[in-house]
Amino acid sequence: MHPERTVEQSLKTIDEARQGSVLYEERWTEAAAPGSKRFYIESYGCQMNFSDSEIVAAILREAGYAPTRNLEESDLILINTCSIREKAEETVRKRLRVFEAVKKQRPGALVGVLGCMAERLKKRFLEEEKLVDLVVGPDAYRDLPNLISSAEEGQRMVNVLLSREETYADISPVRLDSNGVTAFISIMRGCDNMCSFCVVPFTRGRERSRDPFSIVAEAQDLFARGYREVTLLGQNVDSYRWENPETGATVRFAHLLEMVAQIHPRLRVRFSTSHPKDMTDEVLYTMARYENICKYIHLPVQSGNSRILALMNRTYDRPWYEERIRAIRRILPDAAVSSDIIAGFCTETEEEHQDTLSIIEWANFSMSYMFAYSERPGTLAARKYADDVPEAVKKRRLNEIIRLQTAVSWRHNQNDIGKIFEVLIEGDSRRSERDFCGRNSQNKMIVFPKKKGLKPGDYVHVRIHGATSATLLGEIV
Ligand code: 5AD
Ligand code: SF4
Repeated sequence: MHPERTVEQSLKTIDEARQGSVLYEERWTEAAAPGSKRFYIESYGCQMNFSDSEIVAAILREAGYAPTRNLEESDLILINTCSIREKAEETVRKRLRVFEAVKKQRPGALVGVLGCMAERLKKRFLEEEKLVDLVVGPDAYRDLPNLISSAEEGQRMVNVLLSREETYADISPVRLDSNGVTAFISIMRGCDNMCSFCVVPFTRGRERSRDPFSIVAEAQDLFARGYREVTLLGQNVDSYRWENPETGATVRFAHLLEMVAQIHPRLRVRFSTSHPKDMTDEVLYTMARYENICKYIHLPVQSGNSRILALMNRTYDRPWYEERIRAIRRILPDAAVSSDIIAGFCTETEEEHQDTLSIIEWANFSMSYMFAYSERPGTLAARKYADDVPEAVKKRRLNEIIRLQTAVSWRHNQNDIGKIFEVLIEGDSRRSERDFCGRNSQNKMIVFPKKKGLKPGDYVHVRIHGATSATLLGEIV
């Protein structure tokens, strides 16, 4: 779900690492009609949020807006926000101050807050701070053109209604910030899990699945346009479930995965995120049957201790998680597994923290996103438990987790030296124009010298001759 993130970068959080990403498709910018109004959009948070910005861009294009990279020439400044940790929210506040200054230079320009902070902080944004003209929640993007028109007449507009049906199934996202090779497809919205630490059920509402035929059509269209990899996105893809209103037949995740995999053997399929309580063997067997379904599972454990997992309301315990890992090893022996981990959850003892360290080692995660617990208002944990692990202890535990995961990732990568992988070329490496970068099926980033005649979107075989904890180095064979 988080492209080109290294373990070192995981010192930062998801939101920080991708902070301030401004999204555009170059060709589209050039094609903008002269005189059309321009919007600027900045996105924070998870991949789902970046994917939503592509839906917003499609809605705005329909309404006659063209994108710009340049804040100073924008008529509409949008920020798609994240609430998952306090830090993410602080970053957004800082950016709003910057936008306020831009607005002073450009009277008439509108500023809008989208996404997960909208519902939580609408009152504050609109009434107390008067920083913004529009506040629009994740299920209300279709209403944007109306809201913008009213805001242009000087009203402050809000729509943060959450929906039980909205999936934006019919909207063809504008691929922003795209490498032309890999794309994300949202397959469901919201979340019904109620993990006690998590704000998502409150900001994104109830879980609902998108029509599978619209998903397949989107993937087919991407393939026809030269894309070679799609990642199916949902908060909990294993609970994907769509009932055909005409026949009553139900499509579950394993079947959806198969439908997308059958589009073309050269179209890679990934997905994120899996939930340990719901990940079935059927999904694993489907992955095993199709070579183009990537052998990589992001399976957040959150904690290695069963008492903490119960407090987190994860609805599995450590033995259950270990059994799921064993099933992966049995059915998909060459799969890589990654994780999300929270340090210092309410009442966590030193011993329980040690359990988290031991599961990192035991499960041999190829990488993890690691966080210090951050209490979110309104969540089950905020209402029921004291956030009683001191900040300094959380930080120290987080550092121990990061140090261990870095060592485990390093070992995982060293183990690949000498192997040959099929790699989908994504583009130039970050460091040098003489090198390409791309991923193997296990989602490891591989850097290798270019060869004439090859381009992004091509598949090559690369022999690995070196590795850090974050990247593999190799040569085309
Ligand atoms: N504090 C810290 N980390 C959190 N996450 C979700 N909520 C919180 C929180 N309140 C982490 C979880 C989740 C990932 C997306 O963010 O590990 O899997
Ligand atoms: Fe952040 Fe969660 Fe919203 Fe994604 S769904 S933007 S991680 S709060």
